[in-house]
Amino acid sequence: MSHKKLLHIDSSARLEGSESRQLSQQFVQQWIDAHSDYQVIERDIASKPLPHLDQTMLATMMSPAEQHSPEMTVVADRIALLVEEFLAADVIVLGVPMYNLGIPSTLKAYIDHIVMAGKTFAYTDKGAVGLVKDKPVYIITARGGIHAGAASDQQAPYLKTLFNFVGIDNVNFIHSEGLNMGDEMRSKGLQNAQQAIERFVA
Ligand SMILES: Cc1cc2nc3c(=O)[nH]c(=O)nc-3n(C[C@H](O)[C@H](O)[C@H](O)COP(=O)(O)O)c2cc1C
Repeated sequence: MSHKKLLHIDSSARLEGSESRQLSQQFVQQWIDAHSDYQVIERDIASKPLPHLDQTMLATMMSPAEQHSPEMTVVADRIALLVEEFLAADVIVLGVPMYNLGIPSTLKAYIDHIVMAGKTFAYTDKGAVGLVKDKPVYIITARGGIHAGAASDQQAPYLKTLFNFVGIDNVNFIHSEGLNMGDEMRSKGLQNAQQAIERFVA
């Protein structure tokens, strides 16, 4: 029995009452109901945050394994595990709240682990090229206000460009917006997102 892998990443700091968690969970549930050959890998980067990029991590990324101190080996193993998991996924589903117009810093810390020269992208004489095989990425955002398509959306354009950078073109967004704009806007925002989930899974 060979299983395909769905990597499910959540990043809301709200472990309860989070809309992006609720919606990404709905997506994953509907996906596995429709595709029984999928195994789900859960990575919660808010409840188990990754360290920020620091001096040790940079030094680890820029030196060969033979030169690693025991501390650097721990860092290298952590990076390798996350990169392998990212590369092995057939589908990636992300739940992403908007914080201060952008992505949660926990997600940035994750990105700083998986964007690795030689693993997910390479420098060439024509510039950087992505090394990740194309695969569907579904990004479910939750926003208090309305931003899609506006300059205030520093989340979707960044994530799209970032995934493109590592070689993934199949990037899809499901926005739930207006969640802090009163009951009516909120239910409309959630309903739009739920309908989009159904369309993507179908
Ligand atoms: C620290 C913080 C910053 C936020 N910044 C924004 C923002 O810049 N724009 C916006 O529309 N909503 C903002 N919100 C509202 C959240 O995006 C909204 O509550 C969303 O539902 C959070 O996702 P979650 O429900 O998955 O936790 C912010 C919320 C918090 C807690």
